Amino acid sequence: MKHRKLCLPAVAMKHLLAVSVALNVALVLKLMHGGDEGVGWLKVEETLAGTPKRALQEMSSVVSSGGANGVQNNFESGLQELYINLDHGDPTMYESYWKQTGDKTTVVLSGWRSISYFSDTRNLCWFLEPDFANAATRLHNLVGNAATENYHIVVGTGSTQLYQAVLYAQSPPNTPEPISVVSATPFYSQYPLTTDCLKSGLHKWEGDANKFDKNRPYIELVVSPNNPDGSIRQAVVNGTGVLVHDLAYYWPQYTPISYRADNDIMLFTVSKCTGHAGTRLGWALVKDEEIAKKMTKFIEIVSIGVSKESQLRAAKILDVISDGYEKKESHEENEPFFEFGYKEIGRRWRQLRAAATGNGKLFSLPDFPTGKCNFSGHEFETQPAFAWMECKGERDDCEGFLREHKILTRGGKHFGSSSKYVRVSMIGREEHFNEFIRRLSVINSLDSPLTKD
Ligand SMILES: Cc1ncc(COP(=O)(O)O)c(C=O)c1O
Repeated sequence: MKHRKLCLPAVAMKHLLAVSVALNVALVLKLMHGGDEGVGWLKVEETLAGTPKRALQEMSSVVSSGGANGVQNNFESGLQELYINLDHGDPTMYESYWKQTGDKTTVVLSGWRSISYFSDTRNLCWFLEPDFANAATRLHNLVGNAATENYHIVVGTGSTQLYQAVLYAQSPPNTPEPISVVSATPFYSQYPLTTDCLKSGLHKWEGDANKFDKNRPYIELVVSPNNPDGSIRQAVVNGTGVLVHDLAYYWPQYTPISYRADNDIMLFTVSKCTGHAGTRLGWALVKDEEIAKKMTKFIEIVSIGVSKESQLRAAKILDVISDGYEKKESHEENEPFFEFGYKEIGRRWRQLRAAATGNGKLFSLPDFPTGKCNFSGHEFETQPAFAWMECKGERDDCEGFLREHKILTRGGKHFGSSSKYVRVSMIGREEHFNEFIRRLSVINSLDSPLTKD
C-alpha cells in the first residue's frame, strides 16, 4: 500500500510534466509560426536551429525543475516566459473585429458550387468571380483609394501570385539578358526571394532602385505606404521602365487617403486590407489589356485559376465592410471596419512611441507626414502595419539584441538595409503586442546607451 501511495503521484506527475512540456513546445512553435511572407517560414527553420531551440530547452527546464508547482507556475507566467514573435506580418489583430460581426460574414456554399474551372468566360480574366469583382470595385469607389474605371481586374492567389504574374507579363521573352527588378531600400523582403526563386533567366533581382543606373530595361516596384518603413513612395529610377505599384497598405486604417491612385499596374490584397491572409486572395488593377491578358495566362499556366471559395469569402467580407458605411442598420450594429483598424493601430503606435523612445532612448522610430483622409475625415500621421525601429548607439545587431529579450523581429538585412534596424509587426494579437510593449519599457528602464555592456 505504502509503495502504491508513493508511486501513483509520481506517475501522475510524470504525465503532467510530459503534457506540460508538449504544450509548451506547441505554444512556442505556434508563436514562431505566425505564417505570412515567405521569409517567415524560412525564418522558422533558421530559428529552430538557433535561439528558439534554446528557448525550448529553457521552457522544459522551468517545467522539470519546478515539479508539480513548476507545471502550474509555468502556465501562470504564460506569455512572460515565451518568445513574442513580431517577425511575421500576420494580421491577427483583425480577428476580434470579425468575431463580433457574427453570422453577417458567414458564407454558405452548396455542394454544386465551384464545379467548373470557369467563372466568367466573357471576362478577360475568365476565373474572376463576378461577385468578387463587384465587391472590390464597390470598396475602391467607396474609399476612393484607386481608380477602377477602364481597368481590368486580375485576381490571384494572394498578391504574391500576382507579383509573379506581373514579372512574367513584363519580362521580354527573347532577350539575352534577364530584365532587372529593383525597389528602393528598405524593400519588401519577399521581393528578392520571389523574383529569383526559379532562376528563370527572364528576370533578375538587382536590389536598391536608388543605385540602379544601367541603361537597360527594368521593372521598379513601388510600395506605398512601404513595407517595412511605412514611407509614402514614388518611383526613384529616372527612366522609362515598367512601374508596379504595390498598394497593399493604401487603406484608411494605415494612412490618410489623399489621392485616387491611377497607376498602370496596382496590386492589392485582402491580407492587409481586411486581415484575411489565410484566404490567399489578391487583385490587380491593370490598365493595359495585353498585360492583363498575359497575367491571366500566367495564372492559367501555374494554377488554372484561383479558388472560387476564396473569392466568394473575400467578396462577402468586402461587401460587409461597404455595407457598414452605406447601410444605416449595419453601422448601428458594429463599428465600421476601417474605424476599428484606425483606432487600434493608432493606439498601438502611441504606446510604441512612448515605450521605445521614452526613458533610456535606446531606439528610434521614423516620423511620418500628417494629412487629412478624404475618406474618414480624420487628420492623422501614417500609422503603418510595421514599425521600422533603429537600435541607437553602438548596437549593430538590433534583431539579436531584441532576441536576447525574447522578442523576435526581422533584421534590416532582409530588406537590403542595415542590421541596426528591425521590422516589428504592429498588427498581431493584442496580448502579444501588449507584452512586447511591457518588455520594451523594461529594456528601456534597465538599459541605456550609457550603461550599455
Ligand atoms: C507589400 C506587400 N505586398 C504583398 C504582400 C503579400 O500579400 P499576399 O498575402 O496577398 O500574398 C505583402 C504581405 O505582407 C506585402 O507586405
